[in-house]
Amino acid sequence: MTTKTTILAIESSCDDTSAAVIRDGEILSNRVATQEMHRQYGGVVPEVASRAHQVSIVPVVDTALKEAGVSKNELSAVAFTRGPGLMGSLLVGVSFAKAMALSLEIPMIEVNHMQAHVLAHFIDAPRPAFPFLCLTVSGGHTQIVRINAPLDMQVIGTTLDDAAGEAFDKTGKLLGLDYPAGPIIDKLAREGEARFDFPEPNIPELDFSFSGLKTSIFYFLKRNKKREPDFIDNNINDICASVQTRIISILMNKLLKAAKQTGIQEIAIAGGVSANSGLRAALESYGKQHKWNTYIPKFEYCTDNAAMIAMTAHFKYQDQQFVGQDITPLARYKF
Ligand code: KG4
Ligand code: ZN
Repeated sequence: MTTKTTILAIESSCDDTSAAVIRDGEILSNRVATQEMHRQYGGVVPEVASRAHQVSIVPVVDTALKEAGVSKNELSAVAFTRGPGLMGSLLVGVSFAKAMALSLEIPMIEVNHMQAHVLAHFIDAPRPAFPFLCLTVSGGHTQIVRINAPLDMQVIGTTLDDAAGEAFDKTGKLLGLDYPAGPIIDKLAREGEARFDFPEPNIPELDFSFSGLKTSIFYFLKRNKKREPDFIDNNINDICASVQTRIISILMNKLLKAAKQTGIQEIAIAGGVSANSGLRAALESYGKQHKWNTYIPKFEYCTDNAAMIAMTAHFKYQDQQFVGQDITPLARYKF
């Protein structure tokens, strides 16, 4: 009988507490506890997030193990997100993983959250072939990554200021929408027409910038509200459609440039913003036009989740990449 490799993975980098179990590369469970209380503050409050992780982590891990039908004693390793993320949030997951590894006498695996977003593509078929490009778009990051092998990847383009998710969320704030505004703008945009034109920045190479867009939206709204006090209410769907269209064109134009420069036609998107219906449709349509094979993870693997941490840990386990009890979280963890 061959022994199976069973790994428990914990994700606590921002405002979702998540635990997943993977066995020989197959996800058996993936539980996510979302912290709804940040909505009232219009953004994630780090101290509140850290305390909520402390409350949720034990029940979330217990439920993930139960759902997988796995007992603690069957675990081969415990994995955790080392960074990037909020220090107070990361500390909860790292400390919990250390305690489990110590008491069960099993090895620990550290995972980079952004690499995990990319490797979410290996949870289910169809899986991209190597090398492939991945546009990773989340609340904190916007990157184009070239992936040569599961554990061999480089960032070839990144944002110089705001992330794409931030561009959605900050626009939402200007429009008086709840946090996080990305999903709300996505929904409203479906009913609207992109008839307002916002400028596309001229940024060199494969890098991005979204701060100019935010400023132009601010002045656009100010100008129009002066003329028509109910301008936002009267045009909300069209404003959302226009902003979303511009964010997508900024992202897709750089992705197209990256595909041309590298000659790679295996193209993936990942991260919370890849849940956006407009971006998904744009990827499909560019794919048809430029003969790309395109890959979009299942919705639940786009936003933060521990299944992607587990998937990364699976590859690291095969490579025996373990860490000791002296490991510390890294709020800014580059790869
Ligand atoms: O990857 P993620 O769950 O967390 C981070 O690591 O940041 O991404 C969260 C971001 C938020 O900015 C949120 O507004 C955005 O993803 N987001 C969306 C959509 N769903 C989530 N943005 C646009 N359209 C969506 N449907
Ligand atoms: Zn994320």
